[in-house]
Amino acid sequence: TASSSAPALKMPPPLLLLAWGALSLCCRGSLSEAGAELLFQAGERALRQVSPFFLSLTIDANLATDPRYIAFLGSAKLRTLARGLSPGFLRFGGTKTDFLIFDPKEEPTLEEKVFLDQVARQDVCRFRSPPLDVMQVLQSQWPFQAMVLLRDQYKNKYRNTTITRSTVDILYNFAHCAGLHLIFGLNALLRKGSSQWDSTNAQLILDYTDSQNYSMSWELGNEPNSFKHKSGIYIDGYQLGQDFIHLRQLLNNYSRYKTAKLYGPDVGQPRKNTQKLLRRFLKSGGKVIDSVTWHHYYLNGRTATREDFMSPDVLDTFITAVQEELQLVDDTVPGKSVWLGETSSAYGGGAPQLSNTYLAGFMWLDKLGLSARLGIDVVMRQVLFGAGSYHLVSASFEPLPDYWLSLVYKKLVGTKVLHVDITGEDPRKLRVYLHCTNEHHPKYRDGDVTLFALNLNNRTKRLLLPTYFANKQIDEYLLLPHGNSLLSTSIRLNGRLLKLVGDETLPSLIEKPLSPGSRLGLPAFSYGFYVIRNAKVRACI
Ligand SMILES: *[C@@H]1O[C@H](CO)[C@@H](O)[C@H](O)[C@H]1NC(C)=O
Ligand SMILES: *[C@@H]1O[C@H](CO)[C@@H](O)[C@H](O)[C@H]1NC(C)=O
Ligand SMILES: *[C@@H]1O[C@H](CO)[C@@H](O)[C@H](O)[C@H]1NC(C)=O
Ligand SMILES: *[C@@H]1O[C@H](CO)[C@@H](O)[C@H](O)[C@H]1NC(C)=O
Repeated sequence: TASSSAPALKMPPPLLLLAWGALSLCCRGSLSEAGAELLFQAGERALRQVSPFFLSLTIDANLATDPRYIAFLGSAKLRTLARGLSPGFLRFGGTKTDFLIFDPKEEPTLEEKVFLDQVARQDVCRFRSPPLDVMQVLQSQWPFQAMVLLRDQYKNKYRNTTITRSTVDILYNFAHCAGLHLIFGLNALLRKGSSQWDSTNAQLILDYTDSQNYSMSWELGNEPNSFKHKSGIYIDGYQLGQDFIHLRQLLNNYSRYKTAKLYGPDVGQPRKNTQKLLRRFLKSGGKVIDSVTWHHYYLNGRTATREDFMSPDVLDTFITAVQEELQLVDDTVPGKSVWLGETSSAYGGGAPQLSNTYLAGFMWLDKLGLSARLGIDVVMRQVLFGAGSYHLVSASFEPLPDYWLSLVYKKLVGTKVLHVDITGEDPRKLRVYLHCTNEHHPKYRDGDVTLFALNLNNRTKRLLLPTYFANKQIDEYLLLPHGNSLLSTSIRLNGRLLKLVGDETLPSLIEKPLSPGSRLGLPAFSYGFYVIRNAKVRACI
């Protein structure tokens, strides 16, 4: 078997144990049982705590390029899936943010109208999908539309699009009814001459959302570092900061939005010029934003390979990116919360036939693990639904492996981050993370902990828990591709294929109880979660 060829267990170096002092709980299995040892620091305090909205979602503003397609958000299935991932934020943003113009007098599209008529007839959150024929026409035309969107994005070719009151209504209803908090990106490329931001259109939107009692948060502009490239307009960090101050003042004019949050500036990857822009922005307008947002993708979707998705080197590039970002924020606006405002595996819509498969889970789960550990408070996944292949839910409203992975994460992983290390194995290829268990899980108690692990080795690895946990029951949640190909678009949890039950019910996530003292066997190229029950870890009580 795989384990018999694994290297012999090594004792952790004694110095490490000493340094950890009395709180460290070390562990070893018998020497004949090969595997990786886990070192826990299950002590008094958590390393840090993330937002209860840590795992959040996006809808790309390009879905409104043709506002008819916003009616997709009426799908009962999509709504059920979104609700599974609440609580969280739903960010409506992306390049198209800066090309959307609100017209309160414009009539809704036919598709929007059909959708809203249904809402009006019933309680706002209790309605069926728009009529099948409307959906079917949209779905049959969507592949072409999605191709156009990706091509425009690739060529950096953008037109202005008018959005209506209905567009805003549908977005808000979708988020609200799914238990998600909407963050709406306002157009920053509407300018007075070439200098200041022109807030007239934003004011029309605020007047409307205020009149509808919509409680939501705001952003201004998307990836300002590439405004010049996308529109020919260059806006420096100082000016953008002033524009945010202007928006804050505008929000303060509405009693509903006085306390509404403002996030930004949604810069792209921290390269040299982007860092310069961000630094100047934070010095100029940092005081009016509630969190600093930046975007991260590991790869270009057009060139990413299957190997990249499992490469420890590629996964580790994220560490440096986070550290640089945190350092910059610490230098300019110390203490300000930092969020990934938009993030996924590969930019340009994802890598076809990779970003929508089981394989993509390595990047997603590792990003969640590292973000929480390193200092990011919220991670917004691009995208819940939309063009490209990095979506959580396919164009036919089928949840993909990263959807299920997100759901399991959401149910099991709490906000408090704990320390964990392994010895006896290459920690870059056997990556482990530890949190307190989600305190809202009905089955688990205060003090329980959730370990999650990714095995990038080509054979099974066995994890040994500290002896402190030797008599604890462990619930395993092992995720494997359905059909044994890493490129599968469906996934099994403890052997069962995960799928929706009808349009409005999520399946139960059924654990596999392991007997106390079991080694946690993680097959080659797989990931899983383990809840250590009745663990009584002080930091989690
Ligand atoms: C979009 O509309 C604004 C305001 O009218 C205008 O300044 C801008 O040039 C337009 N952009 C495009 C790409 O047409
Ligand atoms: C907004 O809230 C106010 C006060 O509760 C209420 O009178 C009004 O009807 C609400 N408006 C809408 C559009 O729901
Ligand atoms: C806020 O309202 C005041 C009073 O109506 C007005 O003078 C001011 O210009 C407004 N501020 C913004 C940013 O629109
Ligand atoms: C497994 O990985 C090791 C180390 O990277 C390598 O030497 C070995 O050839 C691989 N085995 C298979 C079956 O791919």
